[in-house]
Amino acid sequence: MALILGIESSCDETAAAIVDSHGDTLETRVIAQRIASQDEAHRPYGGVVPEIAARAHAEVLAPMVGAVLADAGMTLDDMDAIAATAGPGLIGGVMVGLVTGKALAMAAGKPLIGINHLEGHALSPRLADPALEFPYLLLLVSGGHCQLLEVRGVGNYRRLATTIDDALGEAFDKTAKILGLGYPGGPAVERLAREGDGAAVPLPRPLVGSGEPHFSFAGLKSAVMRAKAGGQYADADIAASFQQAALDCVIDRTRGALDATAGDEGAGITALVVAGGVAANSALRGALVSLAADYGLPLVAPPPKLCTDNAAMIGWAGAERFAAGHVDPLDLPARPRWPLDADAAPVRGAGVKA
Ligand code: KG4
Ligand code: ZN
Repeated sequence: MALILGIESSCDETAAAIVDSHGDTLETRVIAQRIASQDEAHRPYGGVVPEIAARAHAEVLAPMVGAVLADAGMTLDDMDAIAATAGPGLIGGVMVGLVTGKALAMAAGKPLIGINHLEGHALSPRLADPALEFPYLLLLVSGGHCQLLEVRGVGNYRRLATTIDDALGEAFDKTAKILGLGYPGGPAVERLAREGDGAAVPLPRPLVGSGEPHFSFAGLKSAVMRAKAGGQYADADIAASFQQAALDCVIDRTRGALDATAGDEGAGITALVVAGGVAANSALRGALVSLAADYGLPLVAPPPKLCTDNAAMIGWAGAERFAAGHVDPLDLPARPRWPLDADAAPVRGAGVKA
């Protein structure tokens, strides 16, 4: 049981947090946390610009670490270890966070723990819900990733499905761009979708009903583009129909993974879990609650603040690793690509995006 300083800088949020693994609730586990979003800096470009991101992380991270320590009334000496995201993500940003973590670890004589950002998302539900036991089926849906993983333990992941083209959050962001809703798009699409009819625009459900376990959203995005260009549909109906189609795909794919694991003796999962930025979407949460109920499983979804990128999840993953005796050398490299399941076979067309 330990106090961990967590650092996150792999995409467009700079974040630092202090996590106490003695706590038995989310509130007592996260002692302090700060987050700086770069949304304003990237908005004119409609997406994250790596160079701008790295510079912004470099400007705010060091003072932010000082601020969370002050918020907690602690110093580096009080920490048991420093956990920093070491990948995957935009290399410039990852470097800023990892080098900062290394410098602090060296200066304070504390162990460094390099965290896979995806492991941060994958274990974040255990931060929020102390009762959640391994193994669980995880739907990890963010701007860069769309995967179904069997989470068997710390560092033990089996990938059941991934995307062959776009991630789910990326599909939301592109739809937002097509509809002129700005960046980041997911929350804006969800808001507009509430005013529209999800059945108004006929849109495809790529791979639904196919034996293949993976996700695909590129065809859906093209159909949204055609629907907008055609000019006959209201934007709210396009947003609602897109969200409905995307969720139908996600539910179908997740049902397939539940069929493959829930009844599987030995695998016998304890819960359906959703994490990553898109897990903040309430329509998705609603659909997953009823899907999980079909299998007699609870749906575990961390609070939205813990779903989008943050440092509490990195500190928590650090605490889980520290408890399991994993620490890293100070020459640990940053890894722009870093799959959680190194044994998973590559799928056609897939690129792990930042
Ligand atoms: O996990 P995250 O903060 O960053 C990555 O690691 O990618 O996820 C960000 C993604 C963005 O694509 C954003 O549009 C999406 O999550 N997102 C949402 C919602 N809130 C965030 N998508 C749909 N509905 C939302 N409410
Ligand atoms: Zn993320």
